[in-house]
Amino acid sequence: MKKRILSGVQPSGNPHLGNYLGAMKNHIAMQNEYECFIFIADLHALTTVRDAKKLHEFSLELAMDYLALGLDPKKTVFFRQSDVADHSELAWILNCITPMGLLERAHAYKDATAKGTKDQTAGLFTYPVLMAADILMYQPDLVPVGKDQKQHIEIARDIAIKFNETFGQTFKLPEPYIPEEVASIIGTDGEHKMSKSYGNVIEFFADEAILKKQVMGMKTDSTPMEEPKDPESSAIYNLYCFFATDKEQQEFHHKFKKGGMGYGDAKKILLEKLLDYFGEARKKRFELQKDLSYVRQVLKKGAERAQEEATKMMAKVRAKTGLSLKN
Ligand code: ADP
Ligand code: TRP
Repeated sequence: MKKRILSGVQPSGNPHLGNYLGAMKNHIAMQNEYECFIFIADLHALTTVRDAKKLHEFSLELAMDYLALGLDPKKTVFFRQSDVADHSELAWILNCITPMGLLERAHAYKDATAKGTKDQTAGLFTYPVLMAADILMYQPDLVPVGKDQKQHIEIARDIAIKFNETFGQTFKLPEPYIPEEVASIIGTDGEHKMSKSYGNVIEFFADEAILKKQVMGMKTDSTPMEEPKDPESSAIYNLYCFFATDKEQQEFHHKFKKGGMGYGDAKKILLEKLLDYFGEARKKRFELQKDLSYVRQVLKKGAERAQEEATKMMAKVRAKTGLSLKN
C-alpha cells in the first residue's frame, strides 16, 4: 500500500521560489509514489486576508498555480480546506483538549506578540489547532513542509497524543518531511528566508517585467566585475543551482570564482534560466486562467473525495468523545 502524504498552502497571492522549492515542487513530485492530499488552506488565510473577493481570487489562483506546475488531480486529492467543513468541527474538538501553554509557545503567535501586532485574534492563537485538525483528519504518514512549519507539526503531534490519552487511541502521530537542501530558501536580500513578509521574493508566475525587476534587484556586495567572487555565499548562484544542470552549475561556479563575470551578468543568467524552467508552466497557467470552470470542477471533485475520508474520521471522533447518539 502507498504511504499517504498531506500538506496545505495558504492562498495569499503570487507564490515565490521559497514556496516552490520548499513545498510545491515536493508535493507535486511525490504524487507518483505516495497517495497525496494537497489542499488550499483558505481558513488559515482568513487570519490575515479580510477581503472576500481577494480570498476567493487567491484560492483559485493557487489552484491554477498547482495545476500549471504539474499537480495531476487524478493522482492527488486536491481541494479547498473550507469545502470540507469537518476541518472546523475537528478543530473545535481539539481546541477543547489543547493546553494553552502549547499555543503560547507557538512562534507565529509569539512573533506577532513580540511585534506588538494590533491584529491579534483568537484565530491566530489557535491557528496550530486548525492545522492539527487538517493533518489528523487524514492520518498521513508524512507532512511535507518548509522548516518554518516544523513547530506546527510538533504541536499537531502533541495534540494527537493528548487526544489519544484522553479518549483512547484514535490518531496516528504525524511526521514532518523537510528535505534539508530546500528547508529555507534565502530571499533576494541575500539574508533572510524568502518570504512575502520580508518583501524579498521572486515570483515565478509574475509578469516578465516584474520577474525581471525582482531578479535584477537582488542584493549583492560591491565586488567589481573582474574580481573573483565566492559562489557558495551568493544567493544568485545558490538559486541558480536548483534549476541548472551539473555542467551549467560548474561553468557558473568557475566563471564566478575566476573573476570576469559581474553580478549583473550572473542575474541575467539566472533570469534566463528561470524563464526557461518555468516556461511551460507559465504558458499553462495563462491557459488555465481562461478556463476557471475547469479549475472549480477539479476542486469540487477533490473536496468530494476528501469529504469521504473526513466523514469516516469524524464518525470515530464523535463516537470517542460522546458527540454521537449511536453509543
Ligand atoms: P510566506 O513566508 O511567503 O508567507 P508561506 O508561509 O505561505 O510563505 O509558505 C507556504 C509553504 O512554503 C510552507 O510549507 C513553507 O514552509 C514553505 N516556504 C515558504 N518560504 C520558504 C522558504 N524561504 N524556504 C523554504 N520553504 C518555504
Ligand atoms: N500553516 C501552513 C503554512 O502557512 C499551511 C497549512 C495549513 C498546512 N494546514 C496545514 C501545512 C496542514 C501542512 C499541513 O504554510
